[in-house]
Amino acid sequence: MPGSCRAFFYFYRSNNNAMSELFKALLVTETSDGVFSREISTRNIKDLPQNEVLIRVHYSSLNYKDALSASGNRGVTRYYPHTPGIDAAGEIVSCQAGRFKPGDKVIVTGYDLGMNTPGGFGEYICVPSDWVVPLPETLTSKESMMFGTAGFTAALSLYHLLRCGQSPSGGPVLVTGATGGVGSLAVALLAHAGFDVIASTGKLSEYNYLYSLGAKTVIPREETDDKSTRALIRSKLAGAVDTVGGNTLATVLKACKMHGVVACCGNVQSPQLNTTVYPFILNGITLIGINSADTPMQLRASIWKHLAATWKTDKLSDICRIVSLHELPVHIEDMLTGKIKGRIVVKHDLEK
Ligand SMILES: NC(=O)c1ccc[n+]([C@@H]2O[C@H](COP(=O)([O-])OP(=O)(O)OC[C@H]3O[C@@H](n4cnc5c(N)ncnc54)[C@H](OP(=O)(O)O)[C@@H]3O)[C@@H](O)[C@H]2O)c1
Repeated sequence: MPGSCRAFFYFYRSNNNAMSELFKALLVTETSDGVFSREISTRNIKDLPQNEVLIRVHYSSLNYKDALSASGNRGVTRYYPHTPGIDAAGEIVSCQAGRFKPGDKVIVTGYDLGMNTPGGFGEYICVPSDWVVPLPETLTSKESMMFGTAGFTAALSLYHLLRCGQSPSGGPVLVTGATGGVGSLAVALLAHAGFDVIASTGKLSEYNYLYSLGAKTVIPREETDDKSTRALIRSKLAGAVDTVGGNTLATVLKACKMHGVVACCGNVQSPQLNTTVYPFILNGITLIGINSADTPMQLRASIWKHLAATWKTDKLSDICRIVSLHELPVHIEDMLTGKIKGRIVVKHDLEK
């Protein structure tokens, strides 16, 4: 059994007889060349990587990157069998670095968690201590995973829009892919912060959902997918949180007014960006890249503190659905086909 997690695990176990070395996890396996299966398996704590902090995971959540990892995308996960889950919230079992004590509530999102390090779709994770954020006092573990990487990304986008001088009085802000995880939380957080939000969606049936999250206007996805050769589009748009990339991001850049600010988060439509320099040199547009996974710890902790305080939206339970590990594979399929609305939060002991 590998070193640090093992030693502290045995110490912990001697004081917690009920704890088992075995735990449940969603395991993705390559069954034949390029064919992947997902099943709930029994794993052993000794098989986790040798890192400083062993965490009992209470909640995780489903993000687009997890759906890619769970379907064999080698750009996300190189080696299988593998347990995805880029988000985890739970309590410390042991911490070799001495930063935390058993029972401390913590959050881990991003870094390599769930990519090539076994992730939050298992009941235990073992990670380096500098990936671990103390759970803010005014946030529960469940709420932290209702936000998860999606909410953290939406919050990071809001942080950068504000840092670049955007304010509610500056004009409306567009959110694309608005019914998705990042999109739903971006709508809710921006509206909560006082912005007029325009939500763009491909789901005609979900307009009321987006209005209920605080969107002022809801538009069909086609309106943010300009196929013309125009270099600029006249509009009052002050900025955007774009979760889809591709021609949608190119359209948004053309459609922002002078000094607009666009946070680029995702690529569900396409990773390609075919644009010109005109939005930048004629309208002074700022395009901000959002990388939640590698956010430096000081900024990371500060964003979580905002989410636990003034940015804490009361829309979390409208956005999130709590599911068990066994229910997760169905939702992974829905995410891959763009059918998910809002967020899927995994509660590990839901069946016990
Ligand atoms: N940069 C970062 O740090 C970071 C962090 C988290 C996520 N992301 C990225 O952000 C994106 C969204 O993640 P998520 O977890 O929110 O995923 P999600 O829950 O699956 O949401 C994606 C949404 O995009 C829209 N959509 C789907 N297919 C589309 C298409 N072909 N063209 C246009 N829109 C489409 C849909 O919303 P509508 O039906 O409402 O249009 C869908 O619900 C992903 O690319 C993910 O990798 C990046």
